[in-house]
Amino acid sequence: MAVKEVFIWLLVSVFFATASGRGLDQVTQKKHGDTYNQTITLVLVKFASAVYTDDAASLLSWSCPRCIGLTKGFQIADLIVDEPHCLQAFVGVSNILPAIVVAFRGTQERSFHNWLEDLYWKQLDFGYPGVTDAMVHHGFYSAYHNTTLRPRLIVAIQSLILKRPELPIMITGHSMGGAMAAFCALDLTVNYGMENIDVVTFGQPRIGNPSFASYYNAYVPKTIRMTHNHDIVPHLPPYYSILDNWTYHHSAREVWIYKIAFGILNYETQKICDGTGEDPDCSRSVIGNSISDHLEYLGTVLRTDHSHDPEDSLLSALGAPEGPRNWYKQR
Ligand SMILES: *[C@@H]1O[C@H](CO)[C@@H](O)[C@H](O)[C@H]1NC(C)=O
Ligand SMILES: *[C@@H]1O[C@H](CO)[C@@H](O)[C@H](O)[C@H]1NC(C)=O
Ligand SMILES: *[C@@H]1O[C@H](CO)[C@@H](O)[C@H](O)[C@H]1NC(C)=O
Repeated sequence: MAVKEVFIWLLVSVFFATASGRGLDQVTQKKHGDTYNQTITLVLVKFASAVYTDDAASLLSWSCPRCIGLTKGFQIADLIVDEPHCLQAFVGVSNILPAIVVAFRGTQERSFHNWLEDLYWKQLDFGYPGVTDAMVHHGFYSAYHNTTLRPRLIVAIQSLILKRPELPIMITGHSMGGAMAAFCALDLTVNYGMENIDVVTFGQPRIGNPSFASYYNAYVPKTIRMTHNHDIVPHLPPYYSILDNWTYHHSAREVWIYKIAFGILNYETQKICDGTGEDPDCSRSVIGNSISDHLEYLGTVLRTDHSHDPEDSLLSALGAPEGPRNWYKQR
């Protein structure tokens, strides 16, 4: 992270506008039918960062160091801390968006390894109707479905909907928190009939197989999966196209933030990827070998402030003695 990065989002707009004679937003909607909204994403990344705060009191009063700027004035309705599983999430109302916001934190580096290590599938047979052959990652699935988070979040969301029925529900999270955000959105849609749900995740790992991904896409179409340059985590667990329903497969829609160089200057720009979930021209076009790309999105730090050497600890936690050089390579 030594290189000072400059964000020139306009560059993309200019490119699209030149290419088609229309503005980015219009082109995006027409061409992809997706719901990528950069303004909302820039706010949600701040919530995905704030939920890493360890000091519960400063979250409850919304006075933490990250509780400023675009998240200012957030009215927190519930903060759920599941200590045995190192999990944390909150729900509340942002009048800036405005929306009901649900944010899940990723986990300590060591603990992420524990979740990721758990590669066994769980058949998706928990009463989700109309799906066959769907399988999900047991660890990520359980982090949402089998901890204290889910029941408390649902009560809090239901009571906010009663008070503010006009508000959309925006669900976000980073890393494993992104995985939980996706399971939460599916749960609220399918099992609770909630509508108007948007999901934006950052550096989310894969959570299910192709059949699950299609099911997810059908029920939670307004999902954006931000990936950053060489971030290692979206490459995990691996995708093998020849394995049919026995491989992990991302859901749509990825938006890839990547670097382009002009002479000595490095710019970050973004690409709205295809609707397959596994666009070969987005993050899959590069090797996923970066921890630092994982820990920062859109200039916002996504980790607890007390981990002193997150790169090293996450590297070793990911079980890569020589550093992750080959085993995660996609193609
Ligand atoms: C993006 O979201 C903001 C905030 O909700 C809204 O004002 C804006 O119109 C949206 N942009 C598009 C292109 O939908
Ligand atoms: C749910 O969690 C409990 C306690 O942590 C555990 O004993 C049980 O096996 C878990 N169930 C599933 C389906 O993972
Ligand atoms: C996976 O299973 C579903 C449902 O049986 C099937 O429609 C699909 O073709 C299978 N393969 C892939 C790659 O999705």
